[in-house]
Amino acid sequence: MDADLARWLVSTDALDALAEAAAQSDPGSMAAATAVRRNWTPGQAAAVLTQAELRRRAVTKFGEAAGRLFFTRDALEQATRADVARWRAERLRDAGATDVVDLGCGIGADALAFAAAGLDVVAVEFDPATAVLAAANLGDAGRVVCGDAVEVAGDLLADGAAVFADPARRTASGRTWRVADLTPSWDFVTGLLAGRIGCIKAAPGLPSNVIPDGIATTWVSHRGDLVEASLWSGPWAPGSRTAVLLPSGQELDAGERRDPPVGAVGRYLYEPDPGVIRAGAVGRLAEILAARSPQAGIAYLCADSVHTTPFATAFEVLQELPYDERGLRRWVQEQGVGILEIKVRGIDVDPAVLRKKLKPAGKASATLVLTPTNDGARALVVRRVEAGAA
Ligand SMILES: C[S@@+](CC[C@H](N)C(=O)[O-])C[C@H]1O[C@@H](n2cnc3c(N)ncnc32)[C@H](O)[C@@H]1O
Repeated sequence: MDADLARWLVSTDALDALAEAAAQSDPGSMAAATAVRRNWTPGQAAAVLTQAELRRRAVTKFGEAAGRLFFTRDALEQATRADVARWRAERLRDAGATDVVDLGCGIGADALAFAAAGLDVVAVEFDPATAVLAAANLGDAGRVVCGDAVEVAGDLLADGAAVFADPARRTASGRTWRVADLTPSWDFVTGLLAGRIGCIKAAPGLPSNVIPDGIATTWVSHRGDLVEASLWSGPWAPGSRTAVLLPSGQELDAGERRDPPVGAVGRYLYEPDPGVIRAGAVGRLAEILAARSPQAGIAYLCADSVHTTPFATAFEVLQELPYDERGLRRWVQEQGVGILEIKVRGIDVDPAVLRKKLKPAGKASATLVLTPTNDGARALVVRRVEAGAA
């Protein structure tokens, strides 16, 4: 979309076209395109139909606000989930920030949350069409500057505002997240943290060796999905590594990083939240739960009694079987297991491939946890412990 089309899209001239597109049962269909093109140019029709489709898709990230916001496909994909943006904004505000400069704002998901938390926001975006959409999304809640963050950051931050950046990947190619692919560059955005309150959002797979010294890092999981690593400067312990669970906001600090003790599989098994694992907080969680790993470096925890914790899913171990494909196939047949969930750590096997080989067929369902132990690889038959049943 070019900036002129974006300006039309957010203007009152497009309201009828947006309503017509929103009324289509399938905005991506030929029938919808034909209907909307009767009254609008092909470019306008495509733009409003895309909005209708993206607004429907955006409900999972933005709830009912999705129907009022403007998106591009890329910007929606990159936009921070509303719960996560709210948590970040409140964390910056509670740290003492009153103004924030958002360098590379996309359609403004984070910027909107900053404004909602009561911060004064200036949002910078170098793609002209995206900047138009961000300005429409923010309305009176903030100012959008269309320009290169690298050029405008100095002036905008001169009065002591907090900084936020969520750098984009330069290319969509490749699955690996590399700092060299980011724009604005990693060195530029992390360099802005010195001496001011700030937050940089990064992918959760962020390698530890690119985190500058003295920076506090959080690994955020939202409803069990590991969504980001965020680097913080401000009143947080320098060098700390913390898992954050959203929407509850519960935090677990890795503390001094100690490996859990190693011991036998017991009556219970915990699967730590992915944020806890990435933050290196499994050792800390093991202390809290009086638990042990089945083998050094394996991020399962075993214990003889169960505690309720938001930082791990607890399972009761019903049976401990050797990890042996033929034996497991026999077990699956004998138990009449048709629905088979397989979890694995530390054993080189693809659960989907193994499931096929075990030929599940029957009415029963079961969960297997495959893990190495110091007595050999094991397949543990487990059952989730429901919260409150501990
Ligand atoms: C990952 S998105 C931001 C998403 C945003 N935090 C949200 O939740 O909606 C990054 C944005 O930064 C913009 N960007 C990349 N490099 C920039 C630069 N040097 N100056 C300004 N904007 C830039 C991209 O166009 C993109 O829209």
